[in-house]
Amino acid sequence: MTTHALLLLPGDGIGVETIAEVERVIAFFNARSNTARFEIDRDLVGGAAYDAHGVAITDAAMAKAERAGAVIFGSVGGPKWAGVPYQHRPEAGLLRLRKDLGLFANLRPAICYPALADASSLKRELVEGLDLMIVRELTGGVYFGEPKEIVTLENGEKRAVDTQIYSTHEIERIAKVAFDLARKRGGKVHSAEKHNVMRTGVLWKEVVTAVHAAYAPDVQLEHILADNCAMQLIRNPKQFDVIVTDNLFGDVLSDEAAMMTGSLGMLPSASLGSVDPETGRRKALYEPVHGSAPDIAGKGLANPIATIASFGMALRYSFDMGAEADLVDQAIARVLDKGLRTSDIMQDGMTKVGTSGMGQAIETELKALAA
Ligand code: IPM
Ligand code: MG
Repeated sequence: MTTHALLLLPGDGIGVETIAEVERVIAFFNARSNTARFEIDRDLVGGAAYDAHGVAITDAAMAKAERAGAVIFGSVGGPKWAGVPYQHRPEAGLLRLRKDLGLFANLRPAICYPALADASSLKRELVEGLDLMIVRELTGGVYFGEPKEIVTLENGEKRAVDTQIYSTHEIERIAKVAFDLARKRGGKVHSAEKHNVMRTGVLWKEVVTAVHAAYAPDVQLEHILADNCAMQLIRNPKQFDVIVTDNLFGDVLSDEAAMMTGSLGMLPSASLGSVDPETGRRKALYEPVHGSAPDIAGKGLANPIATIASFGMALRYSFDMGAEADLVDQAIARVLDKGLRTSDIMQDGMTKVGTSGMGQAIETELKALAA
């Protein structure tokens, strides 16, 4: 019997509610399998950690994350922590996890379930069958570049600086992830940057071109300016298969792509480190793309699908449990086919359910599929 250690970090806001639904799914797999089981540990992150310990994540929680087979993350932040010192703001907990665990590759799939094509703000024919993957660089660029500061000048004026930095190896390794994924999908990569205004864009394009020639000539590569990419995503999203891009552009483009699937509440993500040559393992964190949604937090209204699908990605990418991951995806699709909807994806004639109603329905489908 293999035991997989999971660290659950619900965080703040709706993360607490959506992670509770993931626990149902974990319990389902534990009850069913006699070959693998999940051992759960929990800790605080974000505002919740700040309230308890005065930091956005403790060293002890970081140590647990280092040891875990996978971290399942909810969401962080909210107006309650608007005034906390910048280095302790809730988001700092998530950024520390990404940086210290070396999770440089952020996979953000945008899949439009047929049942939800009408919930998208785009026309059905544009999004029906959409299946694209944004590969976002996650540990570099303007998120972490130094200097990063606000200084007061001699004349009393303030000046803020953020620094966009990329070096060759950072671009190479993320490009390889994108090409590897494209090989298993539609065979096409769009690399998005702004070489027309940014030196980092010039280097990005150069390095991706070189990696393509040496490593993946069988994959089709197109370079696209990030602003044009944003426009093309709205104009004709199905032209894309894999989009590889930097940390900041990836943040923006993945929110845009998520909305095409009907709701931000639908999109999961995986953040992966490099493979440890000794153990063959890679550190990994799985999280919904949506945030903590303070406006609906605690009301039982949040859509748990993105978080449950994130656990599905953990099954696939961390535990080599592809069949189980497919089961999760099928259960989600079935529940949607049956017309169950949380309020973010509610449409005429459908049945409205809350967070736990949706979680229960997915659990029921899992049991039916496995029977
Ligand atoms: C995301 C979020 C984070 C980011 C925030 C919460 C720091 O928007 O994961 O996309 O900007 O990366
Ligand atoms: Mg974001």
